[in-house]
Amino acid sequence: MNGQWESFLAPYEQAVSELKVKLKGIRKQFEESHQHSPIEFVTGRVKPIHSIVNKSIRKGIPLAKLEHELQDIAGLRMMCQFVEDIKTVVELLRTRKDFKIIEERDYITNKKESGYRSYHVVVEYPVQTIEGEKKVLVEIQIRTLAMNFWATIEHSLNYKYKGQYPANILERLQRAAEAAFLLDEEMSLIRGEIQEAQAVFSKKNDQ
Ligand code: GTP
Ligand code: MG
Repeated sequence: MNGQWESFLAPYEQAVSELKVKLKGIRKQFEESHQHSPIEFVTGRVKPIHSIVNKSIRKGIPLAKLEHELQDIAGLRMMCQFVEDIKTVVELLRTRKDFKIIEERDYITNKKESGYRSYHVVVEYPVQTIEGEKKVLVEIQIRTLAMNFWATIEHSLNYKYKGQYPANILERLQRAAEAAFLLDEEMSLIRGEIQEAQAVFSKKNDQ
């Protein structure tokens, strides 16, 4: 069974590595042309086998259908400084010819009950293998640094409480989500000011 997992996951590993290089490349291009980069940093991972199995049981997805029904076996995250950058990033992704967007989920306009905010784009990415082309689903989550901070903390607490939060923690998490949102709004208001300062700094570093 281990060997089977290995060959099942291989194209996902390849997709994540390739997309990490490509998406980080966008940031590099903005930096090299001295423009504000809408991308702060990019991370990626292949879902661990135990999480794939747990999620497929939870959702009643037979293992044979995972490929089509589990969209986040391959996952990338693109972190942005400002909420406005998220739109820029999504528009950039829409113009790309190396993958096809299958679905977009806007959990920024429609935050989840938990307080979670992010913009999800599910793409079909072709991986070149020795057996020919293999298309895999990849979930790209685009979020601000503040949204990422909240989601990371909430994820670790969720792990601890298995989603069954004591009432006081649930309430605090929801307040923290609103505080993160307010932080994003405040930063947006002084975005011009911040970007001006960052441009001066980037020029100095270049000299
Ligand atoms: P799951 O939420 O993973 O069951 O999948 P789904 O098919 O409902 O997709 P959805 O777009 O809701 O979420 C996919 C991914 O978004 C998750 O694997 C998480 O990475 C992230 N996510 C969604 N909701 C939350 C949340 O409440 N808290 C945190 N920390 N992350 C979330
Ligand atoms: Mg969900």
